Amino acid sequence: MKALLCQQHGLPTTLVFQDTPSPIPAADEVLIEVKACGINFPDALIIQDKYQFKPALPFSPGGEVSGIIIAKGEKVTQLKTGDRVLALCGWGGLAEQVTVKADRVFPMAPGMDFITAASTLYNYGTSYHALKDRAILQPGETLLVLGAAGGVGIAAVELGKLMGATVIAAASSDDKLELCKEKGADHLINYTSQDLRARLKEITSDKGVDVIYDPVGGKLAEPALRSIAWKGRYLVVGFASGEIPQLPFNLPLLKGCSVTGVFWGSFAEREPRNSMQNLGELLQWLRTGKIKQSIYKIYDLEHGAEAIQDMMDRKVKGKAIVKIGNWVEEPTASSSAAKKETAAIKEVTTTGPLMIENIAALKNYTGKKIGTSDWLTVTQEMINGFASATLDFQWVHIDIEKAKAWMPDGKTIAHGYLSMSLASHFLYQMITIKNVRSFINYGINKARFITPVKEGSRIRMHATLANVEEQDNGAVKLFLNCEMELEGAEKPAYAAELISLVM
Ligand SMILES: NC(=O)c1ccc[n+]([C@@H]2O[C@H](COP(=O)([O-])OP(=O)(O)OC[C@H]3O[C@@H](n4cnc5c(N)ncnc54)[C@H](OP(=O)(O)O)[C@@H]3O)[C@@H](O)[C@H]2O)c1
Repeated sequence: MKALLCQQHGLPTTLVFQDTPSPIPAADEVLIEVKACGINFPDALIIQDKYQFKPALPFSPGGEVSGIIIAKGEKVTQLKTGDRVLALCGWGGLAEQVTVKADRVFPMAPGMDFITAASTLYNYGTSYHALKDRAILQPGETLLVLGAAGGVGIAAVELGKLMGATVIAAASSDDKLELCKEKGADHLINYTSQDLRARLKEITSDKGVDVIYDPVGGKLAEPALRSIAWKGRYLVVGFASGEIPQLPFNLPLLKGCSVTGVFWGSFAEREPRNSMQNLGELLQWLRTGKIKQSIYKIYDLEHGAEAIQDMMDRKVKGKAIVKIGNWVEEPTASSSAAKKETAAIKEVTTTGPLMIENIAALKNYTGKKIGTSDWLTVTQEMINGFASATLDFQWVHIDIEKAKAWMPDGKTIAHGYLSMSLASHFLYQMITIKNVRSFINYGINKARFITPVKEGSRIRMHATLANVEEQDNGAVKLFLNCEMELEGAEKPAYAAELISLVM
């Protein structure tokens, strides 16, 4: 196979494009035919032997790929050859084939293309973990993103907006800031030509910034930290400037703020459930067009070194991608379904979640309609995934050929519990309660599966807050009357009283 090889440590110009033996998957690995490889900052560090992982020479850089599984080890059960996947391989991705541990490989969402898939996990995964889990960013707060047009930076701008923050994007050129504006940034600071502290004072009317997302480090860190608000959170994400800042310890004391480390790779390893939850939410947002990675340029494998060099030269806005092989994306049935779904969602999209200030304010909504979710298409992929998770493989759900022959309209039917389990996802779209630690499912009353949901149909949920019950420990129980509407059907797919516990 062809690969871009690091035979001796050095700058991108030392990488060589040549033939090398194909790797063989170990028992717990899959072999992926690589279609695209996302370029990330560690690629620049790993070839110079400046990264925390030090693969033996020769090796290919490239830690994030998409492609097709072409072989697998005997212990791999959840994935099969032919699956379209995205994967975090660490290195080895700038090659026609790469082996990856199965637990670092994820099926591509229906309708997702290889370029999007290779640019998703790393940037969005890092920035979502930083903003959601480390900063606990709240709607209405201010968020400053440094290096805002870089890979993780631009993802933070987009996600910050989606999470309801006022986003201040800071970067080294007006050209880069233009992209941040397109992605929804509310305020722009060019830190080459403007004074960062003075601009932040002006923008926040002296209050300071609630959350600072810093993937750059170096000279920007201290003026940024000096501009933080009372109880602010400073996220230490990376040191793209090459300089680890030394910060005066008196600043966190005076500001009552916290300086918080972000290490997405370790988070994914130590807290796999939370990480999978985050990835699921991100993939859903990608699928419905709420977030969209900005691709700077697509390079071919032979010129992959240029992609790394461009990133090191601060030329890249968003993400550089290396395309491997001369493939053309085949439009799949599911991709056109996903496009239709996105278009339809655009027509009917809810105006965003209902924002409730705090637990006490919930009572004001008793007896009122909370809202209606976006439409969601129930695909065969979802039905199959549900069957695998619940071990319920009845043919009416998963056997397309039998369904064609025997079902009245030739379609499989989703598990009733599948529609039911989508309730949390829909509720999450409809309601955001500020200043709460958790919002969890507590129980279900009077659940009925009324109309069967056939593969390819669209559902959405309507919810009314029937009652709010205060608990001794300060938590409240919400009783929500929920109805899952099935497009084109007279009666709902599912109805129930959901009970949620909010603390
Ligand atoms: N903690 C984690 O879990 C985690 C995860 C992913 C990435 N990271 C780290 O986050 C940092 C950014 O990664 P990325 O993939 O977003 O990189 P990127 O796309 O290259 O973005 C980095 C940004 O930093 C700015 N920068 C300032 N000085 C620079 C220099 N000397 N060389 C290059 N860029 C410089 C550039 O913006 P301006 O030109 O506008 O200043 C650039 O757009 C890296 O240090 C990476 O290791 C950490």
